[in-house]
Amino acid sequence: MTRSVPPVSPSVSITPQAVYHNRRTILKLLGLGAAALATGCTSQAAPPVPVPETPRRAGTLAVSRRTDDAGGEAQTPYPDATQYNNFYEFGTGKSDPATNSSRFKPRPWSLEIAGHAEKTGRFALEDILAGQPLEERIYRMRCVEAWSMVIPWLGFPLANLLKRFAPTSRAKYVAFTTADRPAQMPGLADRILDWPYREGLRLDEAMHPLTLLVVGMYGRELPNQNGAPLRLVVPWKYGFKGIKSIARIEFTEQQPRTAWNVAAPGEYGFYANVNPAVDHPRWSQQTERRIAGTGFNLFGNRITTQPFNGYAEQVAHLYAGMDLRKYF
Ligand code: MTE
Repeated sequence: MTRSVPPVSPSVSITPQAVYHNRRTILKLLGLGAAALATGCTSQAAPPVPVPETPRRAGTLAVSRRTDDAGGEAQTPYPDATQYNNFYEFGTGKSDPATNSSRFKPRPWSLEIAGHAEKTGRFALEDILAGQPLEERIYRMRCVEAWSMVIPWLGFPLANLLKRFAPTSRAKYVAFTTADRPAQMPGLADRILDWPYREGLRLDEAMHPLTLLVVGMYGRELPNQNGAPLRLVVPWKYGFKGIKSIARIEFTEQQPRTAWNVAAPGEYGFYANVNPAVDHPRWSQQTERRIAGTGFNLFGNRITTQPFNGYAEQVAHLYAGMDLRKYF
């Protein structure tokens, strides 16, 4: 049973401006499973991938504003952004999500809203999106594995949605959970992570105007492998904070447990702000491999990683007084 969604508040304005060197091996070392372990993803020779069906143009999704928040940098070609992915529910290889997600059904979809808010319940996606103007925002995306892309997302500020449910004063964090559908997500058979995938943000991070709830990319609906029908994009944080195929949002008082932080707390912090000064225990974070037509080229296009992925001016104040080496 879905409920009717609180209406979009007219007062909500759109603010202009969203290596793995073998993660599988460390997970195995940690006793967390991971079946086939070979080389790390970045050094994997990519097998040819069938080009996935191109999703519908988001023609019905009127775009109200377009903003370049990547300083004019060239966009990553669509085939790279949709065939070089991390979505472990469909496998751990970079091409697995495109290959293995065709059985996943992003419609019909509902979103459960729970926790410390005046309005909670289960809501149909159509109602969540009704009356919600969409924006295109071009953001840099930096994966913790030290590769990066520039992607034009279609979505709207997460704050617009959260405000509609009127979080109470006890809401200090927002916890997100991905859909848990073993029949449609073959990767769930491997206990690589403590499924379902979970992520979280502090409430002020969630309410920041750069934080985007995304329904499309490159002018089209999100392909399954990129997190259809609804995903998070937080451009100043490592990509693993960008949880895909969100089924549940909960307002919590305590810092929520997150899938990667539970799996390897010494490697993947709750904050996960992009920070070239804090190395991953097994690799440097000072540079990144910008994927732009070179696809799976390990050494090409090395560029310097920027603090907060280049969004420091907008977000550094959120962490004033915090030791970001400790709260990484
Ligand atoms: N969300 C879910 N549910 N499962 C995942 O495995 N991987 C994360 C994030 N969201 C992941 C996820 C990681 S590690 C990254 S880098 C980004 O998705 C990748 O997004 P992309 O494939 O669209 O580039």
